[in-house]
Order: sequence, then structure tokens, then C-alpha cells
Amino acid sequence: MSDPGDLAAFLEEAWQLLRRGVADSRSPARYPTFATVSPAGVPEARTVALRRAAQTEAVVEVHTDINTPKIAAVRASPVAAFHVWLPKSNLQIRLTTTVAILTGDAVEEAWTRVPPASRVSYGTVPDPGTPIEDVYAYEKPPERARFAVLRCTIDHIDLVHLGERHRRAEYVRSDGWAGTWCAP
Ligand SMILES: Cc1cc2nc3c(=O)[nH]c(=O)nc-3n(C[C@H](O)[C@H](O)[C@H](O)COP(=O)(O)O)c2cc1C
Repeated sequence: MSDPGDLAAFLEEAWQLLRRGVADSRSPARYPTFATVSPAGVPEARTVALRRAAQTEAVVEVHTDINTPKIAAVRASPVAAFHVWLPKSNLQIRLTTTVAILTGDAVEEAWTRVPPASRVSYGTVPDPGTPIEDVYAYEKPPERARFAVLRCTIDHIDLVHLGERHRRAEYVRSDGWAGTWCAP
């Protein structure tokens, strides 16, 4: 077993699991909870699919429809938190991020990689969250112009591992991700 007191190895394990989430739709890290703050200051959380996890940049990415309420939230307050619980690894990962909304030419390459059947997730009419007359009174045309990538630059990582003795550490960009053990 690796040294439980190795801060760098603990962080590395978390990044490995995030990368697996991007690659494997059966991993719990594929579907983190993504939390934002609404324009009225209310916390909002929803499930998203993790599309990219880049350790060297400390960036994670999510795809969304530019007309969803979460975009209004991010425009008003460009911060978001991610939460993942990995039961097999007994690990909770929490990320605090600063969000950039990318559209247009900046997302062309990402759009080409979205399978045609999934493109209908970007373009619902009426806009997501709009009250409708009947349960299925909406359409889902694929709408390239509504495809957005949320590039979330990580500022803070909090890891909790449940074991015989729990371990908790936090890592911040400002100290080069060196990390600090915390009381769990
Ligand atoms: C398993 C699962 C995966 C989802 N993935 C995404 C996603 O990657 N992007 C997204 O915008 N919404 C995704 N959704 C839908 C969101 O949870 C949410 O219902 C929708 O984006 C509207 O959220 P908002 O009103 O807070 O903007 C997913 C939902 C589920 C259940």
C-alpha cells in the first residue's frame, strides 16, 4: 500500500479518478454534481457529464446549452463547485472553480466530437426550464449555436477519504497544489 501520508499521491489518485470519469461513462466521476449561485443568490445544484479533466492546467470542462438557467447563474457569478462521491474508492472530491463560458469558434472542435444523437441536448425549444402545456410539449433540434463549453479553472480541491482512519486534504492553486492535511 502507498504511504497514506503522501499528499501528492492523494491528489494524484483524485486526478486519475476524474480522468476515468471522462473516459468511462460507468464511473461515478462521469456525473458530478455541479453547483452554482443563481442571480438571486440561491445555491443551485444539478448533475452534469464531465467532459474533460486536464491536470496540468487544473481545468475541468462541462458541455451545456447556452439557454439553460445555469448560464445566467455563471454570468452573474462566474464560480461553480463540483462534487463527486466515489464509493469504491471511498473518496469524496470537491472542486471550487472559476468558470469561463466558451461558444462559437472556440467550441468548434468540441462540437465535432459530440455524437449526432447527443447534439439534441443543445437546442431544446422552448428554452430549458420554461413551463409547458403538456409533458412532451417541446422539441429538441440540434442547435450548434447553443452549444457551450464551461471551462472551469480549479482554484481549490478538497479530498476526503473514508477509511479505518479518515484522511482529508485541501489543495490550492496559489501554492502550486502542494496540499495541506486537514481534520476530517
Ligand atoms: C445523468 C445526467 C447527466 C446530465 N448531463 C448534463 C450535462 O452534461 N450538461 C447539462 O447542461 N445538463 C446535464 N444534465 C441535465 C442537468 O442536470 C439539468 O437538468 C439541466 O442542465 C438544466 O439545469 P439548469 O436549469 O440548472 O441550468 C444531466 C442530467 C443528468 C440526469
